[in-house]
Amino acid sequence: MPEIRFYNRKPVPMEMHKVKIVQKLTLLPAQQRLEKMQEAGFNTFMLHNGDIFLDMLTDSGVNAMSDNMQAAMLRADDAYAGSETFYRMRDKLEELTGIGNLLPAHQGRACENILAQYFVKPGNVVVMNYHFTTAKAHITRLGGRVEELVKEEGLIPKSTLPFKGDIDLEKLKAFFAQEKDNTAFMRIEAGTNLIGGQPISFANMKEATDLARKAGVISVLDASLLQDNLYFIKTREESMKDFSIREIMRKVSDLFDIIYFSGRKFGFARGGGILVRDEALFHNMEDLVPMFEGFLTYGGMSVKEMEAMIIGFDETMDMDIISQGPQFIRHCVDELDAMGVPVITPAGGLGAHLNAREILSHIPAEQYPAGALAAAMYLAGGIRGMERGTLSEERNPDGSERIASVEMLRLAFPRRVFTLSQTEYVIDRVKWLFDHRDLVGGLRFVHEPKTLRFFTGVLEPVGDWPQKLIQAYIADFGEDQ
Ligand code: F0G
Repeated sequence: MPEIRFYNRKPVPMEMHKVKIVQKLTLLPAQQRLEKMQEAGFNTFMLHNGDIFLDMLTDSGVNAMSDNMQAAMLRADDAYAGSETFYRMRDKLEELTGIGNLLPAHQGRACENILAQYFVKPGNVVVMNYHFTTAKAHITRLGGRVEELVKEEGLIPKSTLPFKGDIDLEKLKAFFAQEKDNTAFMRIEAGTNLIGGQPISFANMKEATDLARKAGVISVLDASLLQDNLYFIKTREESMKDFSIREIMRKVSDLFDIIYFSGRKFGFARGGGILVRDEALFHNMEDLVPMFEGFLTYGGMSVKEMEAMIIGFDETMDMDIISQGPQFIRHCVDELDAMGVPVITPAGGLGAHLNAREILSHIPAEQYPAGALAAAMYLAGGIRGMERGTLSEERNPDGSERIASVEMLRLAFPRRVFTLSQTEYVIDRVKWLFDHRDLVGGLRFVHEPKTLRFFTGVLEPVGDWPQKLIQAYIADFGEDQ
C-alpha cells in the first residue's frame, strides 16, 4: 500500500488498523522514575513494566495481535504429539518458503542453540554479515568464533546507503578461500539488528549464498527481522519493485539451506522454528528438539501462539501491514535528524536508533554511553529503550572491554502498538534530552554477569548526574510529569 497522501500538510505515517483492545498507561512523576531507575540498577531490563510510560525496549513478543490472530487461537489443537496446529504451521511455512521440514523451537535463541550444537565444534568459525548477541553467545559457548564481514560503510552511523546490512563479497570470497573447511556455516541476518535494524539486499544475499554453495558451506538465514527487510527490498531495490512481497519471500527463501526465525518478531506472536531444506540433515537435527524444546510437534511453544503465528505469517505478506513499522520509524528518525539529533540513517526497521557515541561524546566508551543514554531516556519521560553498544558486548579474554563498533540507544517500535501522538512525544523528549546531554554522565558495574551481562547487570551512575537531570526536567515540565 502506498503512503496515504494529505491534501495540505506534510505526509504523516498512517495506522492501517483501528484499536479494539487497549492497555492503560501511567506516566510516573519524574522523582519517582529516579527511584525506580535506582532500584533497577540503572539497567532498563530490570524496570517493572508498570513503571514505564512507553515501552520501546524491543519488538520481541510485544507486537499487537490482530482480531484474526486472536480468533485463530481458539481453534488451537492441544496435543502433546501430532497436534493439527503444528501441521497447519508447517504447511503455511512451506507455502511461503518452499521448505516443508520444520523443527519447532520456543524462540529464536533456542533455534540458535540447536544450530550451534549441531554444527559448531571447538575452533570452528561462523561467518556472518553481523552478529546478534544470542547467536554469538551460543557459538562462542561451544568454542567457536564469529567472523563479521558486513561492508565497512554499514557501520558508518550517518549514511544514505539503502542496504547497510550487505556483506562484503570480496572479503567473503577471501574468507572462504582460507577458512571454508573450518566454517560451521554462513549466517545471514536480514535485517541486521545490532547495526540499527538495517536491511540486506536480495542481490547481496544471492551472491553470498552462491559463494557459500561453491565453497561447500551451509547457508543459514536468520529471518527474525525479515518482515522489515522484505519491505525494504520492495521499496529500495529497483530490480525487485515489481514483485509482490509473497514473491520476494519465496525468492529469498530459495537462496538458503536453512532458515530460522524468532516468532516473537516474524509472525507477530511468540515462538520460533528452523526450516531445513535437506531431508537427511533435517532428520539428523531432529533429536535435539525433544531434548531441549519439547516434542517435535510443539517444540516448547503454546499451540495458541502457533495458531496466531500462522495468521501472522500471512499478515507479513500484506504490504499495508508491514509498511507501518518502517514508516513510523522513518518519521521519527527523519524528524530527529532534521533537529540535529545524531541518529542512525537511513532509518531502518525495528526501531529508531540514537547514536549514543556522538550524543554523549564526553562519556568514555568504558562508561557505557548507550547504557547511560538508556537510563537518561527513562528519567526524561518514562521511555524505555535498549542499550545496543559496548554494554551488550562480552569482555575480551584478557578482561578488557570490547568496544562496540556502533554505540546506540534503540527505541523499538513494536508493530501496531504506538500511535502518532506517542511517536511525537518520543521525538519531543529525545530532543529535550539531546539539549541537556551535558548533564548526563557515565555508568559503572556494581554486579557484572559473565555472559549476556546487559540483561541482568547492576550498574551505578558515575557521580550524581541523574539527580541533576531530574532537577532540570522538573524545571521544564513540572513535578507531576
Ligand atoms: N535473531 C535476531 C536478529 C533477533 O533480533 C533476535 C532477538 C533473535 C535472533 C533471538 O530471538 O528473542 O526469540 O530468542 N531479538 C530481540 C531484540 C531480543 O530485542 O532485538 P529470541
